[in-house]
Amino acid sequence: MRHNSMSAKLLMEVSDRFQGAELFHRESADLMHFLGFLGFSLLHEYQLLSESIEQRRVKRYITSTYHVYLPDLIPESAGLAAQLLEGKDRLEISCEEVATILKHAFEVYAEWEENTLELYQKVAADLLKSGEISAFHFVSEIVRDVKEELTAINDMIIGFNAMDWDKAQIQAEQNTYFERYEKLARELLSGSQGIVAPSTRPTS
Ligand SMILES: [Fe+2]
Repeated sequence: MRHNSMSAKLLMEVSDRFQGAELFHRESADLMHFLGFLGFSLLHEYQLLSESIEQRRVKRYITSTYHVYLPDLIPESAGLAAQLLEGKDRLEISCEEVATILKHAFEVYAEWEENTLELYQKVAADLLKSGEISAFHFVSEIVRDVKEELTAINDMIIGFNAMDWDKAQIQAEQNTYFERYEKLARELLSGSQGIVAPSTRPTS
């Protein structure tokens, strides 16, 4: 196998993980909306948007660097919401059940990002080992973003543990989360980079 195509395949592992992450955030957004946590629902919608933009960046990087086309591996479902809700109806669900599902959903979220971080760090280390410094830097930036996301989730979990996952208190904070992620989504779409970096825009 050519050296280049090995590096491209390593980057495809990142791209495919992003595809799984998009499913994960989509299902989490549905789950949070189902439970009535509109701020958390927007959090996942923001992550879905942000990671979908990132996945496209990875794929463009692969093509422009290694000149190969590699097909995507897209999973069918993250299996999150169905497993946590077990067919429950949201009009019948009790307050305790909501708190339990919420806690579980956050634990699964933290675990997801931990596994993602591990995978991206392994890819970065392999790229570095094979002397692919540019690709290593590219993946390092993604590693930094995932680490930031994981820290934010763990801070939230610690805060909610401190209030013993009190649904009323967490519900009262939804407006703050909603406003925070609405602002971030606006910045994401209108920032200096926009959806694509200026260097990848067509010139004419
Ligand atoms: Fe994420």
